[in-house]
Amino acid sequence: MQVILRQLGDCNIRRTEPSDLIPVMEINLKTLPEHYSDYFYESLLAELPEAFIVAEIGGKHVGYIMCKTEYGFSNFKKLGFVKKGHVVSIAVLDDYRKKGIGKALVEESINGVKLRKCDEFYLEVRCSNNDAVRLYEKLGFVIRQQLNAYYRDGEDAYLMAIELD
Ligand code: ACO
Ligand code: ZN
Repeated sequence: MQVILRQLGDCNIRRTEPSDLIPVMEINLKTLPEHYSDYFYESLLAELPEAFIVAEIGGKHVGYIMCKTEYGFSNFKKLGFVKKGHVVSIAVLDDYRKKGIGKALVEESINGVKLRKCDEFYLEVRCSNNDAVRLYEKLGFVIRQQLNAYYRDGEDAYLMAIELD
């Protein structure tokens, strides 16, 4: 059964199902240089379906966000060991950007990791990716670290994180 989380005009924001994974992989291939194995997508969906979300317009997949949970040192508290949500990847097809779909995907994934009682939510983003950094900042993420040569091409990442309540 489809779980529709919200509608933005004609765009459905909903939980991902196994049959959505091929379209999600196609969006990833078109939009980002970081790709993953089929097994990795399947395992993220099995592990954290609450925060694996797709955006679909009239049967066409236009965006996704996928996440995982981890235990580790807090990005905020000294010496704190916490449960963290981690945005592995988010993308919206070029023609469908700047309509609020990215924001809705991140907001719904925040709700998803809260359901799983995460204390914090974090991600890495290319320092040059102004559109994404601005989106995360608007939603309350703050830059906590700069990770030197994080990407294969040598670019640095910002580690951005938000505390959840
Ligand atoms: N009319 C006009 N502008 C609007 C509207 C609207 N109806 N709705 C939202 N906007 C504006 C927002 O205010 C925002 O403006 P700003 O950039 O000036 O702050 C801008 O549109 C973007 O916000 P959204 O529409 O919510 O986001 P979008 O759907 O465009 O997706 C994303 C953002 C996912 C970063 C997209 O640019 C993308 O897919 N980029 C390529 C892939 C990528 O870089 N992914 C992130 C990598 S990092 C990681 O995965 C952890
Ligand atoms: Zn990451």
